[in-house]
Amino acid sequence: MRLPAVIIGFSFAVICTSLAATRQADPLAEQQFKNIVSFKGKKASELIPAMEFMNASLKVQCSYCHAADRSSDEKAKKKTAREMIAMQKDINDKNFNGQNVITCATCHAGKTHPTPVPPITGLEVRSRRSSDVMPDQVLSAYAKALVSDATPAGGSFKLTGTTTSQGETAPVEATYSGDKFYILAHRAKGDQKQGFNGSTAWFTGPQGVQTVPLQYAEQYVRESTIFLTPESLPKLDSPSGGTSKIDGRDAVVVNGLLAGTKSRVSYFFDKETGLLARTTFFYPTILGSIEQINDYSNYRKVGGVQVPMKIVNHSAEGDSVQEFTSATAEPKGDATLFDPPKQ
Ligand code: HEC
Ligand code: HEC
Repeated sequence: MRLPAVIIGFSFAVICTSLAATRQADPLAEQQFKNIVSFKGKKASELIPAMEFMNASLKVQCSYCHAADRSSDEKAKKKTAREMIAMQKDINDKNFNGQNVITCATCHAGKTHPTPVPPITGLEVRSRRSSDVMPDQVLSAYAKALVSDATPAGGSFKLTGTTTSQGETAPVEATYSGDKFYILAHRAKGDQKQGFNGSTAWFTGPQGVQTVPLQYAEQYVRESTIFLTPESLPKLDSPSGGTSKIDGRDAVVVNGLLAGTKSRVSYFFDKETGLLARTTFFYPTILGSIEQINDYSNYRKVGGVQVPMKIVNHSAEGDSVQEFTSATAEPKGDATLFDPPKQ
């Protein structure tokens, strides 16, 4: 059936008006919504998709930024979000020709608080501040839990087991005394030794004995040492208390700055045993901080002291695991063991 020209004409007109209507029905955001600051000049229809983008980038719901009345500014997060929108625009205008290269998602990656340090995935290293946790009390409970009989001065502990990193497992013998250590790993490519005598940290490599440069020594020592006297745990400036969980177990946390430095440190103690379960150290660099996480577990009582038989050093490059199978206490050790070997 042929439609009369008048009807065709009419329907064409209807289509034209409805297109025009759609155009008209997409006013500027500030015309349709009540309280537009950031998105002035954008189309009203672009507003909700942008909201969904923010939701997804931070993994939050609309209510994270909004009260029931979306136009209200009563939530502080909404104000922060406006500052962030301006910051995102500024970064992209200055560096990326105004393209949305750096976005909420780049920094936030599904979290409300972006991490300023290279991530070590899957580990809980944050703690909740708690005024109920007194650093002094936690540390003295730790001292009691750690040592039941005083270790003789100059005494040492000898541990043997394996060390595994980058897929290679090697037999290892380690001696610890106070803050000093000597570690000998029988690697496939030859024996590797490392040590710290209280002032010099060193290791053996293809070039023979090498001293660890001062700027790395701190990091190096913290990674390799274990704490078998309460005094060997480095002192913290302005300590504060917190709570956390490690592998599902409650932990009490002492946070602070490594005495005399700007390195942020946290000590996590198992709430039930009082023993050290994790240390985290943040070392500042000119671009941001590098994080180090060390875990201590499988404590065994040796000569009146609780010795961690398993140590895991986590880092962005991967984990290194020490698992000791035997531990003995030696009342008088050989102090020269910890010195760099003579070449
Ligand atoms: C990260 C914070 C944040 C999240 C999450 C968020 N919004 Fe918004 N929302 C804002 C900001 C900021 C504005 C103001 C924009 C401006 O100033 O141009 C706004 C404005 C609005 C407005 C306009 C209100 C008016 O009349 O002025 C609506 C509607 C709205 N959001 C809905 C939502 C919905 C729906 C969601 C969830 C899908 C959501 N928002 C998620 C931050 C957020
Ligand atoms: C260049 C990196 C960067 C970009 C891009 C960025 N943010 Fe942020 N944002 C941060 C940092 C850093 C913080 C501070 C977090 C803290 O205090 O721990 C933050 C904090 C926030 C907070 C407050 C979180 C809280 O709970 O206190 C909100 C909300 C937020 N951003 C929203 C956004 C939105 C929405 C966007 C995209 C429009 C965005 N951010 C883009 C880095 C960024």
